[in-house]
Amino acid sequence: MAGLICTLLSACLLGCTSQDITAESGQDVILTCRAPNNNIQTVEWSRADLGDEYVFLYRDEVFVSENQHLSFTNRVDLQDRQRKDGDVSLILKNVTINDTGTYKCVLMNGTNDPICIIYLSVVDPPGQTGGHTEGDCVVLIACLLVSGVLVVAAVAGFVIYRNHKKAKEVLTKLLNSSKYLSPLIIKQSPAAVPTSQCYQ
Ligand SMILES: *[C@@H]1O[C@H](CO)[C@@H](O)[C@H](O)[C@H]1NC(C)=O
Ligand SMILES: *[C@@H]1O[C@H](CO)[C@@H](O)[C@H](O)[C@H]1NC(C)=O
Ligand SMILES: *[C@@H]1O[C@H](CO)[C@@H](O)[C@H](O)[C@H]1NC(C)=O
Repeated sequence: MAGLICTLLSACLLGCTSQDITAESGQDVILTCRAPNNNIQTVEWSRADLGDEYVFLYRDEVFVSENQHLSFTNRVDLQDRQRKDGDVSLILKNVTINDTGTYKCVLMNGTNDPICIIYLSVVDPPGQTGGHTEGDCVVLIACLLVSGVLVVAAVAGFVIYRNHKKAKEVLTKLLNSSKYLSPLIIKQSPAAVPTSQCYQ
């Protein structure tokens, strides 16, 4: 049981740091990412298949266009340029199927480990229906709920099991004692308990 919860939780956490987003071409997409702290000098969003060119680079409070891949010109920005609460989410406007790929956010301060990895899949709309993006960590919330329910169920199950065991013990004791008592009762007052009492 604990193992199952662990697996679920780690799947949830993975689902949060590495998200999958599906969008339809023409939509604006938000690649949600939160830095562990507010001390952010540089934010780089990149996609592995673009080589040296990046999707978006923000350094010392300015946007750097130098080496930006052409397909992202005027289509990207930070959701919040103040990066309040470490919010370094990227807005990607008017996506096309060519925007499909794995996006990484790196805060280039010493380590170049990505803080967020997001797989974006852009599909052509079947009709003219407005879809939605799954930028928020719906997966995490769902998983946490499921885990919570499992924990409650486990605790409830344990309590019921224990009570059951106790009840059984009491019952067994009762039965054992009545084994000696009942012949006495029956002998002493056979009419003491009228059978019709059961049906009143
Ligand atoms: C979105 O991109 C398409 C081409 O990919 C272009 O024709 C269209 O005008 C763009 N829409 C907006 C609102 O920029
Ligand atoms: C996607 O890229 C290909 C090749 O680079 C290009 O021919 C095509 O027009 C692009 N499609 C869109 C929707 O931008
Ligand atoms: C960036 O620097 C801060 C300290 O200024 C540190 O806490 C944080 O872990 C660093 N981030 C990365 C990705 O190295």
